[in-house]
Amino acid sequence: MTAFPVPTMPAPPVAVVGLGQLGGSLAAALVAAGREVSGWDVDPAAREAAAGRGVTITQELAGVVVLAVPLPAMGSSLDGLTVDPNATITDLGSVKRPVVAELEAAFGSRFVGGHPMCGTERSGHAATDPALFAGARWALCVEPGTELPRWLRVAEVALAAGAEVVPVTAAEHDDAVAAISHVPHLLAAALAAAAADAGPLALALAAGSFRDGTRVIGSDPAFVTAMVEGNAVPTAGALARVQAQLDRPWPELIAAGHAVATRPAGVRAVRVPLDRAALLAVGRAGGAITGRLAAFVEGWVPDAG
Ligand SMILES: NC(=O)c1ccc[n+]([C@@H]2O[C@H](COP(=O)([O-])OP(=O)(O)OC[C@H]3O[C@@H](n4cnc5c(N)ncnc54)[C@H](O)[C@@H]3O)[C@@H](O)[C@H]2O)c1
Repeated sequence: MTAFPVPTMPAPPVAVVGLGQLGGSLAAALVAAGREVSGWDVDPAAREAAAGRGVTITQELAGVVVLAVPLPAMGSSLDGLTVDPNATITDLGSVKRPVVAELEAAFGSRFVGGHPMCGTERSGHAATDPALFAGARWALCVEPGTELPRWLRVAEVALAAGAEVVPVTAAEHDDAVAAISHVPHLLAAALAAAAADAGPLALALAAGSFRDGTRVIGSDPAFVTAMVEGNAVPTAGALARVQAQLDRPWPELIAAGHAVATRPAGVRAVRVPLDRAALLAVGRAGGAITGRLAAFVEGWVPDAG
């Protein structure tokens, strides 16, 4: 097959604010991919660790500026820093509606909300892992006012870190992650607290199913609290749906859970134009974007059969 040249945009520099688990890992992944990466953190130890991994420490930010700070700090994290007026701003926060509302008010269509679906119960720069994003889904908001060329610039950073991009609206994202992340955090806490009430014998006998169901209780409580309280209404709704499931006869509930396929059996390659509705359709179908061409993106959707 003859290869033909595809016009591409030059990769912009990336500046990461907050060099903890998520930000430090992203910076390290991009340095490993040969990208120019700068960054800033209020913690001198995080700055030093990132500098040791090839990140240029600076308070002057340009290109794609990634906010990787805790949710309560999101709106103020650029205070006192110099941001290029043409920079595209994005974030990695676990909740999107409030963050998008606050940062769109500050940056207008220069802001593109995002949330990579990866991370562990560890935190801080010591938890940095350049492979954290490999194969992960990275939700990226396509709001009515989103400038698609800027969306694509952020998508390209996510792809460079090894992730697949899922186009979403902030509202749909928050409803979805309430079910698959925020409720699991609450259920893990409830399982652990109830097992502790059952006594030391129960905890001594705890093995695989307990460990898998409670892994995230090791997460920083401040992080989890900010996440569930920042997404309170969707999380309460998703929790009510779990409670309704628990009211079903147990054999019926167990069979229903067993029948759920969490990943599609097969996928179908798609090429869609850079258009809000077309991008969101890929995300809503459960698919993801894996590559970019001049006027199209490529990806996959579950194969209906
Ligand atoms: N931990 C996860 O599993 C996970 C997954 C996806 C997204 N997120 C989101 O990513 C973001 C970061 O989470 P994390 O797990 O990397 O947290 P973390 O605690 O590991 O790192 C946060 C870093 O931000 C720095 N920081 C705090 N305030 C700052 C400020 N004003 N300016 C500059 N730096 C500041 C801290 O010093 C720290 O180094 C959060 O918004 C979180 O919701 C977390």
